Amino acid sequence: MQLLAISDLHLSQTSNKDALIKMADHRDDWLIIGGDTSEKPELHEFAFKELSKRFARLIWVPGNHDLWTFVSKSKYAKRGVEKYNLLVEIARSFGVITPEDPFLEWPEKSNNDTESLFIAPLFLLYDYSFRPKSVDRKNVKNWVREVHAECSDEILLDPKPYKSREEWCWERCDTSIKKLSNIPDSYKTILINHWPLRLDLINLPRVPRFTPWCGTELTNDWHNKFRANVVISGHLHTRRTDFIDDCRFEEVSLGYRRQWNVNHGIDYYLRTIIAD
Ligand SMILES: [Fe+2]
Ligand SMILES: [Fe+2]
Repeated sequence: MQLLAISDLHLSQTSNKDALIKMADHRDDWLIIGGDTSEKPELHEFAFKELSKRFARLIWVPGNHDLWTFVSKSKYAKRGVEKYNLLVEIARSFGVITPEDPFLEWPEKSNNDTESLFIAPLFLLYDYSFRPKSVDRKNVKNWVREVHAECSDEILLDPKPYKSREEWCWERCDTSIKKLSNIPDSYKTILINHWPLRLDLINLPRVPRFTPWCGTELTNDWHNKFRANVVISGHLHTRRTDFIDDCRFEEVSLGYRRQWNVNHGIDYYLRTIIAD
């Protein structure tokens, strides 16, 4: 029984969707789905249906693409918190664990006989604080536009009913701190969030000023504060493993078609979080 992770399946891309149905049966393993599954709720249903045939348990968090609402859609299309709640409802209908559910205890002891673990799916968003100290919040977009375009979230990720995405982020962080603080001290954690918890995990040479849409400084010390063995994120499409303060940080993106080798299949890109 292993704990595996992947994110950024981007199933709106036909190649990625076709590859998902070719995945192997993983029997007793559990799978973490780290956000950016698809902009379309029906592709979440597809993913949960197919993956729940292949894994014993699924744990899901949303990414920015999942929360997008296309402007061409009717004014009745779900936006912001309503869209998030719809995805949570779909996940739960397949028995998938979401950030709205109680944290999940890993049923086996890890590393030694005394270490118990809670798996903590989180939805924290971003607040534009991943930027140089010299750039004011109000000047962030101008600073970005000097080098490249801003993130499409500015048009497609509606924070409704919050006034802004950062207000939504701060509320999510507050709620998550309270929930994480209730985990007994004797437990270690596995923290899961689509956006990286620290600025120093981001290296995007082609879009170096994309960082304001990548997380919040508020979570910089959460790996220590909440006793994380592993922190899992996606969003960057730069698969990597880092170690900070003896904590393992895993960026587990699959990404767009050009960012992975279809001949390998998706199974090849599953990251092992806890081995057998
Ligand atoms: Fe993505
Ligand atoms: Fe993303």
